[in-house]
Amino acid sequence: MATISVFGAQWGDEGKGKIIDRLAADVDLIVRYQGGANAGHTVVVGEEKYVLHLIPSGILHRGRLNVIGGGVALDPVLLEEEIQGLAERGIEVTPANLQISATSHVIFEHHRRLDHLSEHWRGEGRIGTTGRGIGPCYADKAARTGLRMADLLEPSRCQTRLRAVLAEKNAILEGVHGVEGLDLDEQLERYTALGERLACFVTDAGAAVRRAHREGQSILFEGAQGVMLDLDHGTYPFVTSSSTGVGGIGGGAGFPPQKIDRAVGIAKAYCTRVGEGPFPGEEHGEAGDAIRRAGNEFGATTGRPRRCGWLDVPALRYALELNGADGWVMTNLDVLTGFGDLSYVAAYEVDGERHEEYPAHLADLAGLRTVTREAPGWEEDITAVRRFEDLPPAARAYVEEIEAAVGVPIAMLSVGPERDQVIPRGDLLSP
Ligand code: IMP
Repeated sequence: MATISVFGAQWGDEGKGKIIDRLAADVDLIVRYQGGANAGHTVVVGEEKYVLHLIPSGILHRGRLNVIGGGVALDPVLLEEEIQGLAERGIEVTPANLQISATSHVIFEHHRRLDHLSEHWRGEGRIGTTGRGIGPCYADKAARTGLRMADLLEPSRCQTRLRAVLAEKNAILEGVHGVEGLDLDEQLERYTALGERLACFVTDAGAAVRRAHREGQSILFEGAQGVMLDLDHGTYPFVTSSSTGVGGIGGGAGFPPQKIDRAVGIAKAYCTRVGEGPFPGEEHGEAGDAIRRAGNEFGATTGRPRRCGWLDVPALRYALELNGADGWVMTNLDVLTGFGDLSYVAAYEVDGERHEEYPAHLADLAGLRTVTREAPGWEEDITAVRRFEDLPPAARAYVEEIEAAVGVPIAMLSVGPERDQVIPRGDLLSP
């Protein structure tokens, strides 16, 4: 496998963790380039279930280098917890299998607090963030007031910068929000100590990724969240604060995007969304509840029930086209077993006019109606099926109809949470 980008093609939670874990067996490096601990990538290996928030999903394979790129908003408290949690389960995280970019921005306690407080002030317009401090950290990055991992390793520089930053943040916490500010010395001690403990992992990660490429190693770029949550291309302002697709790799990993050989989107056989914001195909009634029950659709990071709906073809086509996807993986096909007739969003309608394309502007979505199409369902258990031709005819027909409507080939189907519960199609994802 050469250089591959794997990204979420819906609103996150598409099952990327499992697919990336599987592909990681055939690559040398796995690189996260955006987002932070707002992600929750679930990987099931035998009896064990792992939920990874910051560390790339390749960590479960021996001999792979996992890289947290400079575009990641890194909470060192949570990273340390994640490293310890893996160690307790027999997975040693060392500088040989994990490197962190010196330029990744640090999420501090004030970012987490401000994330919660800003949500409160947004009132009806709240985003429903994960509360992990992601938006405030990226806002500081853009405002050029953020501190990066390299700063944590230099106590005197950290002190000077954090003093200035905290003075302003405390004025906001106390003056605007009317809550207690944070103690500079306490914060300094906590974060410089974390910097010291994590120092062994901190490197020039971009250089490491480019060197690996120069030496002919294979690299997988692991996207977090999904295209519909992309800061520029998602349902703004109900989005996360980073570039979730292929476009985020240049800045977030320090790797030239034109050197990426393949791009593959991941999408469920239906749709889910957590948090607020437009979701054209959302099913509020029994169908939505049934999908949530069958798919156990509760957030891996926050435990929130996910909003559920049928597959949205125009949104998926948009996400794949935006990222130049060569193919996509349809996950959770098994969840649709036993539903009777299935449905999917085939197009949209605004003021009586049919639209095949996903509209870029949120205002158009407000008056938008979905045009759905029915497809026959199947009753047979498909979790043990490993070849496309062995699927029940109705499942094959559903997959082929969706594939034709989306217009991008399906490279793999996933029919259960385990590593081997997949049905390969074509050779796009072959080693
Ligand atoms: P934030 O990234 O915590 O700022 O949250 C912004 C929006 O993105 C909220 O609607 C979150 O629910 C959503 N979000 C963030 N990360 C994920 C994820 O990994 N999966 C699904 N939704 C996410």
